[in-house]
Amino acid sequence: MSYDVERIRAEFPGLERMQGGQRTVFFDNPAGSQIARRAVDRMVEAMTSANANLGGLFETSIEAGARVREAHAAAADFVNATSPDEIFFGQSMTAITFTLSRAIGREFMAGDEIVLTRMDHDGNVTPWLMLAEDRGLKVHWLDFSPETFEYDLESLGRALSPRTRLVAVNHASNVTGTVNDVAEIARRAKSVGALVYVDAVQSAPHLPIDVQTLGCDVLVCSAYKFYGPHYALAWGRRELLERLTAYKVRAASNALPFKFVNGTTNREALAGIRGAIEHFEWIGRNFGGVVADATRRAAIVAGANAMRDYDRGLAKRLIDGLSAVPGLRVLGLARETDLSRRVPTVSFDLPGHDPAVIARFMAASGINLWSGHNYGVEPVTRLGLLEKGGVVRVGPTHYNTGAEIDRFLEALDRYRVSNSKADL
Ligand SMILES: Cc1ncc(COP(=O)(O)O)c(C=O)c1O
Repeated sequence: MSYDVERIRAEFPGLERMQGGQRTVFFDNPAGSQIARRAVDRMVEAMTSANANLGGLFETSIEAGARVREAHAAAADFVNATSPDEIFFGQSMTAITFTLSRAIGREFMAGDEIVLTRMDHDGNVTPWLMLAEDRGLKVHWLDFSPETFEYDLESLGRALSPRTRLVAVNHASNVTGTVNDVAEIARRAKSVGALVYVDAVQSAPHLPIDVQTLGCDVLVCSAYKFYGPHYALAWGRRELLERLTAYKVRAASNALPFKFVNGTTNREALAGIRGAIEHFEWIGRNFGGVVADATRRAAIVAGANAMRDYDRGLAKRLIDGLSAVPGLRVLGLARETDLSRRVPTVSFDLPGHDPAVIARFMAASGINLWSGHNYGVEPVTRLGLLEKGGVVRVGPTHYNTGAEIDRFLEALDRYRVSNSKADL
C-alpha cells in the first residue's frame, strides 16, 4: 500500500487539536513530536496492569520485568544493536551524556584531547567541555562551513592526533538539518584510537539508525522526538559499557543492561518507547513494502525509509517556497540534489526581522514552530545569528502534509505584508 498520510495522522491523537477553527499545524517537531497512539497505549498498559517494582518474586514484578526486557529488545532492533544488553534508558539525551561523559572521562588523563563540533546541540558539547575542565583535556573543534552547512573533513584531520581520546558528533543537526557522514568521521577517529560518541536525536525521527554502519561506540537519541514519551535511549558497544566504571550505589547491580541506571526504572516510559518503535514497525509493514514475515528490524527500517521518502517531499516544498521569498536565507542544504543529505528541519533568517516576532505571528495563526538558538549555541553562533535572536525553525515530519506547508508559506506572506516596513 502506498504512503497514506491521513491514515498515519489518525495514529496521533494530538494532531486533532484545533485553534481558531482550524487544525493546529505542528512544525515544532524537532523540539518534540506528537506521541503515537501505540506509545500512549503501551504506557497506559504499563501503568494499569502489572505495576510493580522490578526484581520481586511475585507475579506483577515478573510481568513488569518482562515488559522492560521487551523495551530493550525493541530498542536494540531500532538502532541495530547486536544485543538488548547494549541498550539503556535515561531521563534525556543530555542527562545520559552527563552520566556517560563522567564514566568515560575517568579513563582520560590531563593533556588528552577531545574533538567537539561547531554544529552540535549543547547536549553534546557542554558535558564534554565541563569534563575537559575537570580533567585538564585539550578541546579541538570540527568546524562546518556557513555556506555549505557541512563539515570540513579536512579540518577533522587537523583536529585529530595520537592523543585524541574521543570525538563527539551529531548525526543530524537541529539547526541546519544537515545529515553528517558519521561513518567517515568514525573511520577517521578510529584510525587514531578515539571513541566516537554520536548524538542521533535529530536523525532518529527521520532515518533508519544503524550503529553497525555508523561505526560509533555510543549513540544516544530522545524518544520524545521520535513519537514517544519524554525519555531517552542509549546504545553502547558492549566492551566499552563493560569496561567503564558506573557512578552508582553499591547495592545496585553492575550487570548490563542496568549498569548505568540509577534508581528506579521508569517502566512506563520504557513501555512508551517500545510503542513508538512499534509505530515505525507498523508503518513499515503497512506502507514500507516488506514481506509478511519480515523481522521487526526489517519492518522498522522499511518504516523509517517510507517516512524519510515522504518527508523529503515536504522539505522540498518548504525549501522551494522559502527560497522564493525575497531576501530570505535558508540556513541549510537547499538544492534538490542535496536533499538526501538533510532531514526536513529547515531554519531560515529573514534579515531585518526578529525570529521571535515571526514565531509569535505563526503561533497566532495556529502554526507551532520555534525561534531562537534552540540550544544549538555553537551552530547559531557560527552562522553569526546569536545576537540577532537566532533562527526561525520549521520542522515538518512524516505526519505533516503539503497543505500544511502551503498554509505556513501563506502565513509568511501575510506576515511580510503586515511587516513590510522592516523589509527596507
Ligand atoms: C540534536 C539534539 N541533541 C540533543 C538534544 C537534547 O535532547 P534531550 O532533551 O533529550 O536532552 C536535542 C533537543 O532538542 C537535540 O535536538
